[in-house]
Amino acid sequence: MPKTIIANWKMRLSVSESLALAKKIDSKLRNSKNEIILCPDFLSLPLVSALLKNSQITVGGQDCALNLNSSSTGEISALNLKEVGASYVIIGHSERRENQKENSKTINLKTKAALLAGLKVILCVGESASCRKKGDTWNFISTQLKESLLDLPLKKKDDLLIAYEPIWAIGADRPMDADEADKIAEKISRFASDLLGKKIAVLYGGSVNSQNAKSYLKKKNISGLLVGGASLEADEFSSLAL
Ligand code: PGA
Repeated sequence: MPKTIIANWKMRLSVSESLALAKKIDSKLRNSKNEIILCPDFLSLPLVSALLKNSQITVGGQDCALNLNSSSTGEISALNLKEVGASYVIIGHSERRENQKENSKTINLKTKAALLAGLKVILCVGESASCRKKGDTWNFISTQLKESLLDLPLKKKDDLLIAYEPIWAIGADRPMDADEADKIAEKISRFASDLLGKKIAVLYGGSVNSQNAKSYLKKKNISGLLVGGASLEADEFSSLAL
């Protein structure tokens, strides 16, 4: 079964670095059996998308505005992401929840706007270290899901992917044990599928690298990976995504 492997480049690269990395990854992964999605920053996205015009590798945004057209200085509409070549958009990444104070209501509106614009959504959920310590993980994630998925105009099941990313594992060189990630992925998929009436795929993210990627990809309930740090180097990313 092909898996979905997503590179989240965050704000780590210049425009020229993004283009150079996309080119290298394309040369290594253009015949991958997996679905490969690169998420550069907004300024690099149209250029990376043009570069990959004849490739099966696709492109996604890292965020979008919560409506499609409004007086919102500095925001980026999902319609424009679509117009410049994005097929996907990441919504609700924990760094945005933390730094931009995005809550589930905002994330729900962004998800709806993206779907209406014809983008596929990669919705991120996950608990903090303190939440995990209190034994509150499932309560926290299920609340995030309930609020974020409220009344979604979801036509096809493939238009939504959920990325389970425990916050304490992100950029920390402290990945979650694959068996535990698989169990939580199963719960997330069941919960979201019950809410939406469609089978929803779940990915894992958090300290994934070429050494540990296979341990997640062989799990029944994990349909792919959302990769940050290890996606910034072509050889490393290609060996985990191949
Ligand atoms: P990481 O980041 O792979 O560097 O842990 C994952 C993410 O933030 O999506």
